[in-house]
Amino acid sequence: MEEKRDGAPETDEATLRRDMDRRDFVQWAASLSIGATCLLGAVTAANAVNPPGRSIDGKTKMPPTALAAVADLPLGKPQLFAYGDDSLFLTRTEGDKIIALNAACPHVACKLHWDEKITQYACPCHASFFKLDGTKISGPATRNMDPAMFQVAAGKVVVSGFAENA
Ligand code: FES
Repeated sequence: MEEKRDGAPETDEATLRRDMDRRDFVQWAASLSIGATCLLGAVTAANAVNPPGRSIDGKTKMPPTALAAVADLPLGKPQLFAYGDDSLFLTRTEGDKIIALNAACPHVACKLHWDEKITQYACPCHASFFKLDGTKISGPATRNMDPAMFQVAAGKVVVSGFAENA
């Protein structure tokens, strides 16, 4: 039998109740810790599949839309355009040829950007890199950048959607 703080002996029942309270608290704290660990693991797993940089899915379907006049596109410098909820790059090359590429990385769809210093498309999520024409250079992406479908009409680039490389 233990003594209470005032020096009087504590009953078995009181000791048992105190031990139960302590045990309940320890169990509660352990559950909280396990719950927090599971939540952290779930967030980490979700980030691996859907990284924070992901902003587009590259699957917008909408009527053909004129995005730019060919003459307004600078030679050899990709320009980013919004297309529905997605984005695409239009580049004018020699002979006024147009390259149209989905800005969604073919790995898990993070939004690519054109890095002028290295003259490559770069992915901020897992470091895939692509040439101006969308050909994969390096990184975890397993295919080239996906093309955007377009035609030139009355001097304008009219985009009608995205295709997907095999
Ligand atoms: S989304 Fe992973 S490399 Fe681009």
